[in-house]
Amino acid sequence: MLDDVLGLLRCPVCGEGLGRSAAGPVRCAAGHSFDVARQGYLNLLTGAPAPGTADTAAMVAAREGFLASGHYAPLTQAITTAATELVHAAPGNGCVVDVGAGTGRHLGAVLDALPGRVGLALDVSKYALRRAARAHPRAGAVVWDVWRPFPVADGVASLVLDVFSPRNAAEFHRVLVPGGGLLVVTPAPGHLRELAAPLGLLTVDERKDERLGQALGTWFRAGYRTDLTVPMLLTHEQVAAVVGMGPSARHIDPAELPVRIATLPSPVEVTATFHVSRYIRRADSGAGESVGE
Ligand SMILES: C[S@@+](CC[C@H](N)C(=O)[O-])C[C@H]1O[C@@H](n2cnc3c(N)ncnc32)[C@H](O)[C@@H]1O
Ligand SMILES: [Zn+2]
Repeated sequence: MLDDVLGLLRCPVCGEGLGRSAAGPVRCAAGHSFDVARQGYLNLLTGAPAPGTADTAAMVAAREGFLASGHYAPLTQAITTAATELVHAAPGNGCVVDVGAGTGRHLGAVLDALPGRVGLALDVSKYALRRAARAHPRAGAVVWDVWRPFPVADGVASLVLDVFSPRNAAEFHRVLVPGGGLLVVTPAPGHLRELAAPLGLLTVDERKDERLGQALGTWFRAGYRTDLTVPMLLTHEQVAAVVGMGPSARHIDPAELPVRIATLPSPVEVTATFHVSRYIRRADSGAGESVGE
């Protein structure tokens, strides 16, 4: 529930703590006020996010449907295993922040494995947060743009979870307790390879992993990586969902996609491949420090 995470949040305008009386709006001491949607998520975002970033209603519906099919259950299991390792290695009893949480399914599974911890789902898509707000009794959902300073207090998180979502390393570092964990899941080269050519999907950049390490290196020490391969047998409807929930959905003509899917065998063998990468928060960033003062 939102009330579980209010104490971790900060007013995005003035940085004060936030509170709420009964079922009214959320307010800070300076009087800035933010609406809680009927579906239970809190909108702290003032102004519009960059266009073309938020998942649309259709993408979220595709994601919900595909994740419910169970084909990505091995991924959810791998995330849960890595997340519990990282949380138990971190000091204190901090929360789990899922950045670009989508429907909150992975966050819900992680919280199930961590009794007593609370979770915060951040996403810029209201359609996603309608689901994420109900993903777990100990989770709250907040509309936010990952490219802005997070409306979250310093050092309150034991774990930041980032599954196929944009990454803001400096903010991940700030909200984590020293020694806290960052878990990043990315598609590996060859992800959905059987669909790439027939459907014209975007392919995974082979150097993505190297760039990820460079981007996070200032703030995090790399832990170990698990490579996961998931063979699947998909119906045409499931193929439409797995494509419709991903980045290619923005690039393929929606009228053309069913025509291309119809050329595939049914069911069709499709391989999903992921990197599940662990990082540990450095005590300081090592960047911009002044020495000898
Ligand atoms: C590929 S989906 C992954 C969702 C979820 N982590 C999962 O694995 O099911 C990427 C998510 O990031 C969100 N997103 C994209 N740009 C964002 C931004 N600038 N700030 C916050 N969330 C963003 C999208 O709305 C979407 O829900
Ligand atoms: Zn304020």
